[in-house]
Amino acid sequence: MAGIYIHIPFCKQACYYCNFHFSTVLSYKEKLVSAIAKELFLRKEELAGEKIETVYFGGGTPSLLNEKELNLLLEALYAHYDLSEVKEFTLEANPDDVKNAFLKMLSTTPINRLSMGIQSFEEDHLKLMNRAHSANEAIYCVDRAKQFGIEKISIDLIYGIPGMSMATWQNNLQKALNLPIDHISSYCLTVESQTVFGKYKERNKLILPEDEETSNQFLELINQTQKFGFDHYEISNFGKPDSYALHNTNYWKGKSYLGAGPGAHSYYPGTRMWNVSNNQSYMKALDAGILPLEKEILSKKDMFNETIMTGLRTMWGVNLLEIEEKFGLEYLITLRQDLAEYILSGYVVETKEAFILSKEGRFLADGIASSAFRTN
Ligand SMILES: C[S@@+](CC[C@H](N)C(=O)[O-])C[C@H]1O[C@@H](n2cnc3c(N)ncnc32)[C@H](O)[C@@H]1O
Ligand code: SF4
Repeated sequence: MAGIYIHIPFCKQACYYCNFHFSTVLSYKEKLVSAIAKELFLRKEELAGEKIETVYFGGGTPSLLNEKELNLLLEALYAHYDLSEVKEFTLEANPDDVKNAFLKMLSTTPINRLSMGIQSFEEDHLKLMNRAHSANEAIYCVDRAKQFGIEKISIDLIYGIPGMSMATWQNNLQKALNLPIDHISSYCLTVESQTVFGKYKERNKLILPEDEETSNQFLELINQTQKFGFDHYEISNFGKPDSYALHNTNYWKGKSYLGAGPGAHSYYPGTRMWNVSNNQSYMKALDAGILPLEKEILSKKDMFNETIMTGLRTMWGVNLLEIEEKFGLEYLITLRQDLAEYILSGYVVETKEAFILSKEGRFLADGIASSAFRTN
């Protein structure tokens, strides 16, 4: 079974932290959506004979799609792929788009999961980050989506925001956990150089919290979500036991997915592909019937490093048998040696089946993973 990701590269306005691929010029949205539909048609053989398990509309802002555009994409998906057994159909939505008319439109589609970019319930944070919605909209969009029968609701929250105190973070978590949601994705603010925050930082105009503060906020996130019955199943993801994000879990487990739209990545075991990250070049290529795709064949070393990185970040850890079967016994032996000091100090636990990060180890996930990377 495989997944399909569709990238909608448009946003109303640019959030000051965001480095994803999007444009704020919406005038050619319909033309670009037609190009994505064409891409889905041209690439149908890649997943011929495969059943699609998950579909994910990401962005950018997929909730900017109107009925005609969304239906064009759904028609292309159903016409060219086997969606007879889809389990999860997600759309990323921004709170200011989640109005009654939008939800009514969704209720006529197979979309059964919304991932809402709330980020914070504090007006000051939303303004600082140049979000397009208000704190009130952040709260009401979830209740409204539930009333319209959306089965699964996930929200995104950011911590480590400049000026965020522990008390405001706790308040954000309480508000979130009292909503009818089954999943939270929560990331520590990262400042990328090409963003507005990146420029502020360069000019010393952005005072970021100390590592100790963000670690404490992460700990609070782990503890509070646990109290409300959420499992910490991936470093940045928390879900009720029957509500883990299937599409993303399949990424982390190395399953195949096709990514359509500008900047979208695709993965088939051993091969990664990606579309050009430029809306005009993307449309021009598809107009001419050309796929603007680049391809990289992953080496054994790259595949191993990726398996370690993604596996360690999940609660299932890095599976010992899988390492031995895919890469050979020598890889498993050196992996055990590389992780030995972390096992001794209690950051990594070796069970019969896997190497898994302990609660303390989750604070050092990236460092632990990179110490086990192979260079050849
Ligand atoms: C691709 S964005 C799309 C979501 C949607 N457009 C929105 O803004 O609500 C997915 C999520 O990544 C997170 N994110 C993006 N850039 C980030 C950054 N620099 N630091 C931390 N989190 C970030 C945000 O939580 C965001 O909701
Ligand atoms: S966070 Fe979401 S809405 Fe904001 S610029 Fe990035 S993709 Fe667009």
